[in-house]
Amino acid sequence: MKSVTVFLAAVLVLEATALPTVLRFSQERAVLKPQLVRLHQVPIVKDKVGVDLCPTCVDFTTQAINALLEIILNGGVLTACSDLCGALANKTGSQAVGAICDVLCSIVGVEEFLQLIQDADLDPIYFCELITVCPVFDSGDANITALTVKPPQGPQGTSFIVDIEYTSKNGTGTGELVIELDTVDGIPVASAFLQQKQPPGTYGSKITIHAKPDPDCDPTQGPCEMWLPGTYIVKIALCNGECGSLHPHSQIYDTGSTNFTITG
Ligand SMILES: *[C@@H]1O[C@H](CO)[C@@H](O)[C@H](O)[C@H]1NC(C)=O
Ligand SMILES: *[C@@H]1O[C@H](CO)[C@@H](O)[C@H](O)[C@H]1NC(C)=O
Ligand SMILES: *[C@@H]1O[C@H](CO)[C@@H](O)[C@H](O)[C@H]1NC(C)=O
Ligand SMILES: *[C@@H]1O[C@H](CO)[C@@H](O)[C@H](O)[C@H]1NC(C)=O
Repeated sequence: MKSVTVFLAAVLVLEATALPTVLRFSQERAVLKPQLVRLHQVPIVKDKVGVDLCPTCVDFTTQAINALLEIILNGGVLTACSDLCGALANKTGSQAVGAICDVLCSIVGVEEFLQLIQDADLDPIYFCELITVCPVFDSGDANITALTVKPPQGPQGTSFIVDIEYTSKNGTGTGELVIELDTVDGIPVASAFLQQKQPPGTYGSKITIHAKPDPDCDPTQGPCEMWLPGTYIVKIALCNGECGSLHPHSQIYDTGSTNFTITG
């Protein structure tokens, strides 16, 4: 057990040197940047039961983990899933969120659910693995074999398409694909996309970058990317678990970078 921990830590340190800014994305994932849109997702292998709760769980946890932690901190009697999930529905004003909470909570029971939410330490993928909704696979691998942007240059307003190809010999565990841009105005633009467990094979993914200032961006809620002329570095990371997470079942498989230029 100890040697595994040391090995993973060594991998993370090595990769961190290569790509220091790919850290943890659970916060940002809640606020997907509208300029980054995933066009094409690799085929998803559903388990035999049919309904795949893993993506639902990761979305739910990303949105609700802070509210759940607040409910736990505020104390109160939480002896049944209906107490916790009712309080969550009230707090978020969403019956749908409460209903998903009920489904997930009833898998492990309220006591275990409350414990695991705290153990997961704001890592949605790890939490969904702990409640056994997302599959764990730690002998996975993935290598990026091609990474391009089309067109390589264009004026502001261009939709740049990032094309990522990778191969996996053993298959991959539940993880994520993170894309991060070094922008000309220094504003962070990044997004993380859940990658479900996949069998060995060659995969492709395309992400569109709409290089156009978002008219709905509210500068009081955070900086608004202006897509100024210049070269934008695109960094990609493929990971088991959350990229940069120090929790079990987490590992950076591979990273890559490319760039595009906004002419002006
Ligand atoms: C949710 O809010 C309603 C109305 O305010 C209240 O009656 C109910 O007890 C609340 N439920 C929970 C579980 O907090
Ligand atoms: C891939 O699977 C083989 C056979 O199970 C194993 O020996 C190897 O360590 C795995 N690769 C990785 C990266 O874990
Ligand atoms: C990925 O790259 C590493 C080192 O660059 C290599 O050892 C490994 O065999 C490659 N794996 C695949 C699936 O190509
Ligand atoms: C952008 O990519 C091209 C082609 O891969 C490369 O030659 C160039 O050095 C890169 N520019 C920067 C600023 O990284």
